[in-house]
Amino acid sequence: MTEVRLEKLTKRFGAAEILKAVDLTVHSGEFFTVVGPSGCGKSTLLNLVAGLEAPTAGAIYFDDRPVHLLGPRERDVAMVFQSYALYPHMTVYDNLAFPLRMKKRSAAEIDRKVRDVAELLGLTPSLPRRPRELSGGQRQRVALGRAMVRQPRLFLLDEPLSNLDAQLRIEMRSELKKLHQALRATMIYVTHDQAEAMTLSDRIAVLHRGDLQQCGKPKEVYERPANLFVAGFIGHPPMNLLRGTFRLGPEAAVDLGAGTRFGLAGVLRDRLRDFPEGGELVLGLRPEHLRLRKSGKDLGRSVRLTLIEPMGSEVWLELGWGDHRLRAKAPAEFDGSVGQTFEFEIDESRVYFFNADRGDRIS
Ligand SMILES: Nc1ncnc2c1ncn2[C@@H]1O[C@H](COP(=O)(O)OP(=O)(O)OP(=O)(O)O)[C@@H](O)[C@H]1O
Ligand SMILES: [Mg+2]
Repeated sequence: MTEVRLEKLTKRFGAAEILKAVDLTVHSGEFFTVVGPSGCGKSTLLNLVAGLEAPTAGAIYFDDRPVHLLGPRERDVAMVFQSYALYPHMTVYDNLAFPLRMKKRSAAEIDRKVRDVAELLGLTPSLPRRPRELSGGQRQRVALGRAMVRQPRLFLLDEPLSNLDAQLRIEMRSELKKLHQALRATMIYVTHDQAEAMTLSDRIAVLHRGDLQQCGKPKEVYERPANLFVAGFIGHPPMNLLRGTFRLGPEAAVDLGAGTRFGLAGVLRDRLRDFPEGGELVLGLRPEHLRLRKSGKDLGRSVRLTLIEPMGSEVWLELGWGDHRLRAKAPAEFDGSVGQTFEFEIDESRVYFFNADRGDRIS
Protein backbone atom coordinates (compact mmCIF):
# COMPACT_ATOMS: atom_id res chain seq x y z
CA MET A 1 0.00 0.00 0.00
CA THR A 2 1.19 3.44 -0.87
CA GLU A 3 0.49 6.97 0.26
CA VAL A 4 0.44 9.46 -2.62
CA ARG A 5 1.20 13.12 -2.02
CA LEU A 6 0.88 15.89 -4.58
CA GLU A 7 2.65 19.14 -3.82
CA LYS A 8 1.75 22.25 -5.79
CA LEU A 9 1.29 20.01 -8.80
CA THR A 10 0.97 22.19 -11.88
CA LYS A 11 0.50 21.36 -15.54
CA ARG A 12 0.44 23.76 -18.45
CA PHE A 13 -0.17 22.93 -22.09
CA GLY A 14 1.15 26.01 -23.88
CA ALA A 15 -0.49 29.01 -22.25
CA ALA A 16 -3.33 27.00 -20.74
CA GLU A 17 -2.94 26.13 -17.08
CA ILE A 18 -4.71 22.80 -16.77
CA LEU A 19 -3.76 21.99 -13.16
CA LYS A 20 -3.14 24.83 -10.74
CA ALA A 21 -0.81 24.04 -7.84
CA VAL A 22 -2.81 21.09 -6.54
CA ASP A 23 -1.95 19.96 -2.99
CA LEU A 24 -3.41 16.60 -2.10
CA THR A 25 -2.64 13.54 0.03
CA VAL A 26 -4.17 10.16 -0.73
CA HIS A 27 -3.78 7.91 2.29
CA SER A 28 -2.43 4.42 2.04
CA GLY A 29 -5.19 1.91 1.25
CA GLU A 30 -7.76 4.57 0.50
CA PHE A 31 -10.34 4.60 -2.27
CA PHE A 32 -9.91 8.20 -3.32
CA THR A 33 -11.94 9.88 -6.07
CA VAL A 34 -11.20 12.99 -8.07
CA VAL A 35 -14.51 14.32 -9.33
CA GLY A 36 -15.33 17.29 -11.53
CA PRO A 37 -16.93 18.29 -14.82
CA SER A 38 -15.55 17.35 -18.21
CA GLY A 39 -12.30 19.14 -19.00
CA CYS A 40 -11.45 20.12 -15.40
CA GLY A 41 -8.13 18.24 -15.52
CA LYS A 42 -8.93 14.85 -13.95
CA SER A 43 -7.22 12.70 -16.58
CA THR A 44 -4.28 15.08 -16.67
CA LEU A 45 -3.86 14.61 -12.91
CA LEU A 46 -3.93 10.81 -13.23
CA ASN A 47 -1.52 10.88 -16.18
CA LEU A 48 0.92 12.90 -14.07
CA VAL A 49 0.69 10.41 -11.21
CA ALA A 50 1.17 7.52 -13.66
CA GLY A 51 4.15 9.22 -15.28
CA LEU A 52 2.54 9.46 -18.73
CA GLU A 53 2.93 13.26 -18.58
CA ALA A 54 5.56 15.37 -16.84
CA PRO A 55 4.50 18.17 -14.47
CA THR A 56 5.29 21.78 -15.33
CA ALA A 57 5.96 22.43 -11.64
CA GLY A 58 5.40 20.76 -8.31
CA ALA A 59 6.14 17.30 -7.01
CA ILE A 60 4.64 13.83 -6.57
CA TYR A 61 5.63 11.55 -3.71
CA PHE A 62 4.89 7.88 -3.12
CA ASP A 63 5.50 7.24 0.59
CA ASP A 64 7.82 10.26 0.87
CA ARG A 65 9.84 9.21 -2.17
CA PRO A 66 9.77 11.73 -5.04
CA VAL A 67 8.64 9.95 -8.21
CA HIS A 68 7.84 12.75 -10.64
CA LEU A 69 11.16 12.33 -12.43
CA LEU A 70 10.75 8.56 -12.80
CA GLY A 71 9.33 6.91 -15.91
CA PRO A 72 5.98 5.11 -15.75
CA ARG A 73 7.56 1.64 -15.48
CA GLU A 74 9.59 2.58 -12.44
CA ARG A 75 6.51 3.86 -10.59
CA ASP A 76 4.83 0.44 -10.44
CA VAL A 77 1.30 1.73 -10.91
CA ALA A 78 -1.50 0.17 -12.96
CA MET A 79 -3.91 2.31 -14.90
CA VAL A 80 -7.36 1.32 -16.14
CA PHE A 81 -8.95 3.51 -18.79
CA GLN A 82 -12.46 4.10 -20.02
CA SER A 83 -11.67 2.21 -23.22
CA TYR A 84 -10.72 -1.28 -22.15
CA ALA A 85 -7.77 -1.57 -24.53
CA LEU A 86 -7.80 -5.37 -24.52
CA TYR A 87 -5.92 -7.39 -27.12
CA PRO A 88 -8.75 -8.55 -29.41
CA HIS A 89 -6.93 -11.57 -30.84
CA MET A 90 -6.01 -12.96 -27.39
CA THR A 91 -8.21 -14.98 -25.05
CA VAL A 92 -9.14 -13.58 -21.65
CA TYR A 93 -6.52 -15.89 -20.16
CA ASP A 94 -3.79 -14.48 -22.41
CA ASN A 95 -4.94 -10.90 -21.86
CA LEU A 96 -4.60 -11.43 -18.11
CA ALA A 97 -1.30 -13.27 -18.46
CA PHE A 98 0.25 -10.67 -20.77
CA PRO A 99 1.66 -8.25 -18.13
CA LEU A 100 3.25 -11.18 -16.26
CA ARG A 101 4.75 -12.65 -19.41
CA MET A 102 6.28 -9.25 -20.13
CA LYS A 103 7.86 -9.49 -16.70
CA LYS A 104 9.18 -12.99 -17.54
CA ARG A 105 7.42 -14.76 -14.68
CA SER A 106 7.36 -18.55 -14.61
CA ALA A 107 4.48 -20.36 -16.30
CA ALA A 108 3.38 -21.81 -12.94
CA GLU A 109 3.26 -18.41 -11.25
CA ILE A 110 1.43 -16.87 -14.21
CA ASP A 111 -1.15 -19.64 -14.19
CA ARG A 112 -1.78 -19.32 -10.46
CA LYS A 113 -2.14 -15.50 -10.55
CA VAL A 114 -4.36 -15.49 -13.64
CA ARG A 115 -6.68 -18.06 -12.09
CA ASP A 116 -6.80 -16.26 -8.72
CA VAL A 117 -7.69 -12.95 -10.30
CA ALA A 118 -10.22 -14.55 -12.68
CA GLU A 119 -11.89 -16.21 -9.69
CA LEU A 120 -12.05 -12.94 -7.75
CA LEU A 121 -13.63 -11.15 -10.71
CA GLY A 122 -16.02 -13.94 -11.69
CA LEU A 123 -14.18 -14.44 -14.99
CA THR A 124 -13.23 -18.12 -14.66
CA PRO A 125 -15.81 -19.34 -17.23
CA SER A 126 -14.67 -16.62 -19.64
CA LEU A 127 -10.96 -17.48 -19.60
CA PRO A 128 -10.94 -19.29 -23.00
CA ARG A 129 -13.06 -16.60 -24.72
CA ARG A 130 -12.00 -13.59 -26.75
CA PRO A 131 -12.99 -9.99 -25.88
CA ARG A 132 -15.60 -9.74 -28.66
CA GLU A 133 -17.50 -12.64 -27.09
CA LEU A 134 -17.83 -10.75 -23.79
CA SER A 135 -20.29 -8.15 -22.53
CA GLY A 136 -19.11 -4.60 -21.73
CA GLY A 137 -19.07 -5.37 -18.02
CA GLN A 138 -17.01 -8.52 -18.53
CA ARG A 139 -14.52 -6.66 -20.73
CA GLN A 140 -14.12 -3.99 -18.09
CA ARG A 141 -13.49 -6.73 -15.54
CA VAL A 142 -10.74 -8.17 -17.76
CA ALA A 143 -9.16 -4.70 -17.95
CA LEU A 144 -9.28 -4.49 -14.16
CA GLY A 145 -7.90 -8.01 -13.87
CA ARG A 146 -5.00 -7.15 -16.12
CA ALA A 147 -4.15 -4.32 -13.73
CA MET A 148 -4.54 -6.61 -10.71
CA VAL A 149 -2.31 -9.54 -11.76
CA ARG A 150 0.73 -7.30 -11.49
CA GLN A 151 -0.07 -6.44 -7.87
CA PRO A 152 0.91 -2.82 -8.40
CA ARG A 153 1.48 -0.46 -5.49
CA LEU A 154 -1.22 1.86 -6.79
CA PHE A 155 -4.31 1.63 -9.01
CA LEU A 156 -5.31 4.56 -11.18
CA LEU A 157 -8.79 4.28 -12.64
CA ASP A 158 -9.89 6.80 -15.27
CA GLU A 159 -13.69 6.66 -15.67
CA PRO A 160 -13.56 2.88 -16.05
CA LEU A 161 -17.36 2.48 -15.90
CA SER A 162 -18.43 5.21 -18.28
CA ASN A 163 -18.86 2.90 -21.30
CA LEU A 164 -21.35 0.72 -19.44
CA ASP A 165 -25.12 1.16 -19.42
CA ALA A 166 -26.75 2.65 -16.32
CA GLN A 167 -27.75 -0.65 -14.71
CA LEU A 168 -24.38 -2.29 -15.23
CA ARG A 169 -22.56 0.77 -13.95
CA ILE A 170 -24.36 0.49 -10.63
CA GLU A 171 -23.55 -3.23 -10.41
CA MET A 172 -19.90 -2.68 -11.29
CA ARG A 173 -19.77 0.15 -8.77
CA SER A 174 -20.60 -2.23 -5.92
CA GLU A 175 -18.17 -4.78 -7.33
CA LEU A 176 -15.38 -2.24 -7.44
CA LYS A 177 -16.06 -1.33 -3.85
CA LYS A 178 -15.93 -4.97 -2.78
CA LEU A 179 -12.77 -5.45 -4.80
CA HIS A 180 -11.16 -2.56 -2.99
CA GLN A 181 -12.17 -4.04 0.35
CA ALA A 182 -10.61 -7.37 -0.67
CA LEU A 183 -7.37 -5.92 -2.06
CA ARG A 184 -6.92 -3.05 0.42
CA ALA A 185 -4.82 -1.30 -2.22
CA THR A 186 -4.60 2.46 -2.70
CA MET A 187 -6.90 3.42 -5.56
CA ILE A 188 -7.29 6.79 -7.23
CA TYR A 189 -10.47 6.93 -9.22
CA VAL A 190 -11.58 9.64 -11.62
CA THR A 191 -15.15 10.39 -12.63
CA HIS A 192 -17.42 13.26 -13.64
CA ASP A 193 -20.33 11.47 -11.97
CA GLN A 194 -20.83 12.85 -8.48
CA ALA A 195 -23.15 9.99 -7.45
CA GLU A 196 -20.45 7.48 -8.35
CA ALA A 197 -17.89 9.48 -6.37
CA MET A 198 -20.17 9.73 -3.33
CA THR A 199 -21.04 6.03 -3.15
CA LEU A 200 -17.61 4.55 -3.87
CA SER A 201 -15.11 6.68 -2.05
CA ASP A 202 -13.48 6.97 1.33
CA ARG A 203 -12.71 10.57 0.39
CA ILE A 204 -13.27 12.75 -2.64
CA ALA A 205 -11.55 15.77 -4.14
CA VAL A 206 -13.65 18.18 -6.20
CA LEU A 207 -11.76 19.73 -9.10
CA HIS A 208 -12.95 22.70 -11.16
CA ARG A 209 -10.89 24.26 -13.96
CA GLY A 210 -7.73 22.70 -12.58
CA ASP A 211 -8.33 24.13 -9.13
CA LEU A 212 -8.90 21.90 -6.11
CA GLN A 213 -12.14 23.11 -4.54
CA GLN A 214 -12.54 20.81 -1.56
CA CYS A 215 -11.31 17.49 -0.26
CA GLY A 216 -13.02 15.36 2.37
CA LYS A 217 -15.31 12.45 3.15
CA PRO A 218 -18.37 12.37 0.85
CA LYS A 219 -20.69 13.18 3.75
CA GLU A 220 -18.59 16.17 4.83
CA VAL A 221 -18.48 17.58 1.32
CA TYR A 222 -22.23 17.13 0.96
CA GLU A 223 -23.03 18.63 4.35
CA ARG A 224 -20.45 21.39 4.36
CA PRO A 225 -19.68 22.40 0.76
CA ALA A 226 -16.81 24.88 0.75
CA ASN A 227 -18.23 27.09 -1.97
CA LEU A 228 -20.92 27.63 -4.58
CA PHE A 229 -19.27 25.37 -7.13
CA VAL A 230 -19.17 22.37 -4.78
CA ALA A 231 -22.67 23.12 -3.51
CA GLY A 232 -24.04 23.05 -7.05
CA PHE A 233 -21.99 20.05 -8.19
CA ILE A 234 -22.49 17.57 -5.34
CA GLY A 235 -26.10 16.44 -4.87
CA HIS A 236 -28.80 15.58 -7.38
CA PRO A 237 -30.86 17.41 -8.38
CA PRO A 238 -28.50 20.25 -7.48
CA MET A 239 -28.92 22.59 -4.56
CA ASN A 240 -31.25 25.54 -5.21
CA LEU A 241 -29.05 28.63 -5.25
CA LEU A 242 -30.80 31.99 -5.02
CA ARG A 243 -29.02 35.31 -5.07
CA GLY A 244 -30.29 38.05 -2.79
CA THR A 245 -29.49 40.97 -0.52
CA PHE A 246 -29.05 40.72 3.24
CA ARG A 247 -31.48 43.05 5.01
CA LEU A 248 -31.50 43.79 8.73
CA GLY A 249 -34.14 45.76 10.61
CA PRO A 250 -36.96 44.46 12.71
CA GLU A 251 -37.39 41.55 10.31
CA ALA A 252 -34.04 40.34 9.03
CA ALA A 253 -34.31 38.62 5.66
CA VAL A 254 -32.64 37.72 2.43
CA ASP A 255 -34.37 39.93 -0.11
CA LEU A 256 -34.71 37.84 -3.26
CA GLY A 257 -36.34 40.60 -5.34
CA ALA A 258 -39.87 41.19 -6.61
CA GLY A 259 -41.29 41.04 -3.09
CA THR A 260 -39.86 37.58 -2.25
CA ARG A 261 -38.06 37.39 1.08
CA PHE A 262 -36.50 34.57 3.03
CA GLY A 263 -37.08 35.52 6.65
CA LEU A 264 -34.18 35.11 9.05
CA ALA A 265 -35.35 34.50 12.57
CA GLY A 266 -33.20 33.62 15.59
CA VAL A 267 -30.42 31.19 14.70
CA LEU A 268 -30.33 32.08 11.02
CA ARG A 269 -29.93 35.76 11.74
CA ASP A 270 -27.24 34.95 14.25
CA ARG A 271 -25.31 32.94 11.67
CA LEU A 272 -25.07 36.08 9.53
CA ARG A 273 -24.07 38.39 12.37
CA ASP A 274 -20.73 39.26 10.72
CA PHE A 275 -22.21 39.78 7.27
CA PRO A 276 -22.77 43.41 6.26
CA GLU A 277 -26.26 44.83 5.85
CA GLY A 278 -26.95 45.27 2.13
CA GLY A 279 -24.34 42.64 1.20
CA GLU A 280 -25.05 40.25 -1.65
CA LEU A 281 -25.33 36.60 -0.75
CA VAL A 282 -26.57 33.34 -2.19
CA LEU A 283 -29.11 31.29 -0.30
CA GLY A 284 -28.68 27.51 -0.70
CA LEU A 285 -31.54 25.05 -0.14
CA ARG A 286 -31.23 21.38 -1.07
CA PRO A 287 -34.28 19.89 -2.87
CA GLU A 288 -34.31 16.94 -0.44
CA HIS A 289 -34.53 19.27 2.57
CA LEU A 290 -37.63 21.20 1.53
CA ARG A 291 -40.87 20.00 3.09
CA LEU A 292 -44.21 21.10 1.71
CA ARG A 293 -47.36 21.75 3.73
CA LYS A 294 -50.74 22.65 2.37
CA SER A 295 -51.31 25.39 4.92
CA GLY A 296 -49.26 26.85 7.68
CA LYS A 297 -48.02 29.96 9.34
CA ASP A 298 -47.30 32.39 6.54
CA LEU A 299 -43.56 32.96 6.59
CA GLY A 300 -43.47 34.32 3.08
CA ARG A 301 -42.59 30.85 1.86
CA SER A 302 -45.61 30.34 -0.27
CA VAL A 303 -44.80 28.42 -3.44
CA ARG A 304 -46.78 27.29 -6.45
CA LEU A 305 -46.37 23.78 -7.82
CA THR A 306 -45.40 23.98 -11.50
CA LEU A 307 -44.17 20.47 -12.34
CA ILE A 308 -44.33 16.92 -10.91
CA GLU A 309 -41.85 14.29 -12.09
CA PRO A 310 -42.46 10.80 -10.70
CA MET A 311 -39.18 8.97 -10.15
CA GLY A 312 -40.61 5.73 -8.74
CA SER A 313 -39.42 5.79 -5.15
CA GLU A 314 -39.93 9.59 -4.90
CA VAL A 315 -41.25 12.55 -6.87
CA TRP A 316 -39.30 15.55 -8.03
CA LEU A 317 -41.11 18.84 -7.96
CA GLU A 318 -40.61 22.25 -9.48
CA LEU A 319 -42.00 25.17 -7.53
CA GLY A 320 -42.43 28.83 -8.36
CA TRP A 321 -41.39 31.15 -5.55
CA GLY A 322 -41.83 34.75 -6.68
CA ASP A 323 -39.58 35.06 -9.73
CA HIS A 324 -37.53 32.02 -8.66
CA ARG A 325 -37.74 28.32 -9.44
CA LEU A 326 -37.15 25.81 -6.67
CA ARG A 327 -36.49 22.10 -7.03
CA ALA A 328 -37.88 19.84 -4.32
CA LYS A 329 -38.05 16.12 -3.65
CA ALA A 330 -41.00 14.49 -1.96
CA PRO A 331 -41.99 10.92 -1.04
CA ALA A 332 -43.78 8.89 -3.74
CA GLU A 333 -47.06 9.31 -1.82
CA PHE A 334 -46.94 13.08 -2.40
CA ASP A 335 -50.46 14.33 -2.90
CA GLY A 336 -50.70 17.50 -4.96
CA SER A 337 -51.35 18.79 -8.42
CA VAL A 338 -49.87 21.46 -10.63
CA GLY A 339 -51.20 24.91 -9.80
CA GLN A 340 -51.70 24.27 -6.07
CA THR A 341 -49.99 26.45 -3.50
CA PHE A 342 -47.94 25.17 -0.57
CA GLU A 343 -45.80 26.51 2.21
CA PHE A 344 -42.27 25.16 2.28
CA GLU A 345 -40.35 24.48 5.45
CA ILE A 346 -36.71 23.70 6.03
CA ASP A 347 -34.67 23.02 9.17
CA GLU A 348 -32.50 25.97 10.07
CA SER A 349 -29.42 23.77 10.14
CA ARG A 350 -30.01 22.84 6.47
CA VAL A 351 -29.94 26.42 5.17
CA TYR A 352 -26.69 27.51 3.49
CA PHE A 353 -25.34 30.98 2.82
CA PHE A 354 -22.58 31.83 0.37
CA ASN A 355 -20.76 35.03 -0.38
CA ALA A 356 -22.17 36.09 -3.77
CA ASP A 357 -18.92 37.61 -5.03
CA ARG A 358 -16.28 35.18 -3.84
CA GLY A 359 -18.50 32.10 -3.74
CA ASP A 360 -17.21 30.79 -0.40
CA ARG A 361 -19.65 29.53 2.19
CA ILE A 362 -20.40 32.04 4.92
CA SER A 363 -22.09 29.67 7.30
N1 LIG B 1 -1.89 17.02 -24.51
C1 LIG B 1 -2.66 18.11 -24.37
N2 LIG B 1 -2.40 19.25 -25.04
C2 LIG B 1 -3.18 20.34 -24.90
N3 LIG B 1 -4.25 20.40 -24.10
C3 LIG B 1 -4.58 19.31 -23.41
C4 LIG B 1 -3.81 18.09 -23.50
N4 LIG B 1 -4.37 17.17 -22.69
C5 LIG B 1 -5.45 17.78 -22.13
N5 LIG B 1 -5.57 19.05 -22.55
C6 LIG B 1 -6.60 20.00 -22.13
O1 LIG B 1 -6.62 20.03 -20.71
C7 LIG B 1 -7.93 20.15 -20.22
C8 LIG B 1 -8.21 19.06 -19.22
O2 LIG B 1 -8.20 17.82 -19.88
P1 LIG B 1 -8.45 16.47 -19.11
O3 LIG B 1 -8.45 15.38 -20.13
O4 LIG B 1 -7.51 16.36 -17.98
O5 LIG B 1 -9.93 16.70 -18.54
P2 LIG B 1 -10.88 15.69 -17.80
O6 LIG B 1 -11.28 16.31 -16.53
O7 LIG B 1 -10.28 14.33 -17.75
O8 LIG B 1 -12.15 15.67 -18.77
P3 LIG B 1 -13.15 14.47 -19.16
O9 LIG B 1 -14.13 14.34 -18.03
O10 LIG B 1 -13.83 14.98 -20.40
O11 LIG B 1 -12.33 13.24 -19.41
C9 LIG B 1 -8.85 20.13 -21.44
O12 LIG B 1 -9.21 21.46 -21.73
C10 LIG B 1 -7.98 19.55 -22.53
O13 LIG B 1 -8.34 20.07 -23.77
MG1 LIG C 1 -10.76 12.48 -18.59
